[in-house]
Amino acid sequence: MSCDDRSGFDRVAPVYGILERLAFGGALQATRTALLSEVRPPQRALIVGEGEGRLAEAMHERWPETRLVIVDASAVQLERARRRLARRGSARCDGAEAQFLRVDVLHAPEGLCALEPCDLIVTPFVLDCFSGDSLRDVVDRLAHCATPRAQWLHADFAPARAGLRGLRQRLWHRSLYAFFGATAGVAARKVEDPASHLERHGFQRRCSKHLRAGLLVTNLWERRESVSRMGS
Ligand SMILES: C[S@@+](CC[C@H](N)C(=O)[O-])C[C@H]1O[C@@H](n2cnc3c(N)ncnc32)[C@H](O)[C@@H]1O
Repeated sequence: MSCDDRSGFDRVAPVYGILERLAFGGALQATRTALLSEVRPPQRALIVGEGEGRLAEAMHERWPETRLVIVDASAVQLERARRRLARRGSARCDGAEAQFLRVDVLHAPEGLCALEPCDLIVTPFVLDCFSGDSLRDVVDRLAHCATPRAQWLHADFAPARAGLRGLRQRLWHRSLYAFFGATAGVAARKVEDPASHLERHGFQRRCSKHLRAGLLVTNLWERRESVSRMGS
């Protein structure tokens, strides 16, 4: 996927919400928001790959004082998120409460460098777009945007369990990667656990919640030790 012109997700954006509801009902939104009540109210939250703004809306409702920095490679998704927040009449978009930045965190992450450190990083159904070195690089870059005691909320499909127990997961993953590979150019082919990358940056898992019989998972991480912004 490239951010030079159109992001692959621009094409999917108009139907993303409809497909999500047809395939999963309210389960993805339940996963995105499952642990919000456990998060310490942040001052600045960086939401990466936000999509059409449903999580940002829920976060703004819960923490109206929090400055939201919304990053996505897709201009279309960003515009949908901006409009959604504006419709609420709650966000002074590109003003005090919400900032919208088009950044490809994999191929052209320079836009992240100028960001003030955030005390909450949020990755809703986006890290599953990356695998191997790409996943490591993206986590490294985002960890660089985090304050020494930051929290990190990660909602995603759970990595597949081994053997027969993971069969249903693997079938879902295969269908989703086939769809997003063909339509949005997602190169990853399996859901990888980002835990080791987060741990390298001083994050420890504080709590987890599984939904849909283990298909979906939300993890809340936090940096407990005093870690300065770590090198990439
Ligand atoms: C599968 S969608 C998830 C959307 C939404 N967060 C959700 O919970 O449904 C992945 C989102 O991440 C964005 N994305 C994918 N790769 C990206 C990249 N390299 N840099 C920034 N955003 C990216 C896409 O534009 C899209 O909005």
